[in-house]
Amino acid sequence: MSCLSLRVPQSNDASRLYLDLMKGCLTRSIFGERYRELRRPVVVGKRARPVWMIHTFVAALLRRWNLEIVERVAFDDADCEEGGRWPAEAETMVGTRRLDNIEYCIRDILDNGVPGDLIETGVWRGGASIYMLAVLHALGDASRHVWMADSFAGLPKPDARNAADVGDIHWMLNHVLAIPLAEVKANVEKYGLLHDRVHFLKGWFNETLPNAPIDRIALLRLDGDMYGSTMDALQNLYPKLASGGFCIIDDYALTGCRQAVDEFRSRNHITEELIRIDHSAVFWKRC
Ligand SMILES: C[S@@+](CC[C@H](N)C(=O)[O-])C[C@H]1O[C@@H](n2cnc3c(N)ncnc32)[C@H](O)[C@@H]1O
Repeated sequence: MSCLSLRVPQSNDASRLYLDLMKGCLTRSIFGERYRELRRPVVVGKRARPVWMIHTFVAALLRRWNLEIVERVAFDDADCEEGGRWPAEAETMVGTRRLDNIEYCIRDILDNGVPGDLIETGVWRGGASIYMLAVLHALGDASRHVWMADSFAGLPKPDARNAADVGDIHWMLNHVLAIPLAEVKANVEKYGLLHDRVHFLKGWFNETLPNAPIDRIALLRLDGDMYGSTMDALQNLYPKLASGGFCIIDDYALTGCRQAVDEFRSRNHITEELIRIDHSAVFWKRC
């Protein structure tokens, strides 16, 4: 795996300033955040599971009174760059390096006239997809469609048929990960980017993606964390990825996701080089 610097050159033109401002807003690197939801109590070993369950239960109970459990954080710019933190308010947990990567891919797609739409599977509050829309807007593209696929109800319980997902606890954190469609739509709208070329595919990937009305894809961004979620997206969407298009894997650092990607690539004889974006994400350009 090679490592590329994906930094986008800085300049003073309006579209550059707009995109930098968008990145700062979407990650909150401009404003900072003093608190964030307590992701999980720091417990390891056998007691971790029951403690997380109690935490989930108490958090759910508190939400009835509009309360949530937060922890105080020292805001760190490095977090905003690398991503991986679960921010309290930012619209994306993806860091600026991954946002730069999205921009890099879209610029390449437009420069080379690669046909197709853009899709993200796993949008959470919508931030990375919103950045796709912003880049298209800044670069003057008014023809491509952007698809946002999500359950809008969090991650599924592990499917026993996927050995790699057995024991996966993401679903137990759905009090943080489940963002309703109305909230995501409102996020897109508040940045002025909700238009008739934005589409929401609501439901589990294995139900929505097989019949998604998308002909061709130029940018395929996978951010579903688990083996099953990654495999469902690859199997149903990769065949639609145009030559010259990009496949981005946000969660390659997670064992299940990585296994799905490695299996899919090997089974389909995909030999394009994996390029590292940051500590977690990788991408490749389809030949
Ligand atoms: C890590 S979050 C995505 C982060 C987002 N891309 C961002 O910009 O911050 C993972 C998302 O994937 C969704 N998800 C995971 N597996 C799914 C599945 N099998 N079907 C539908 N949605 C799924 C979850 O609901 C969640 O919103």
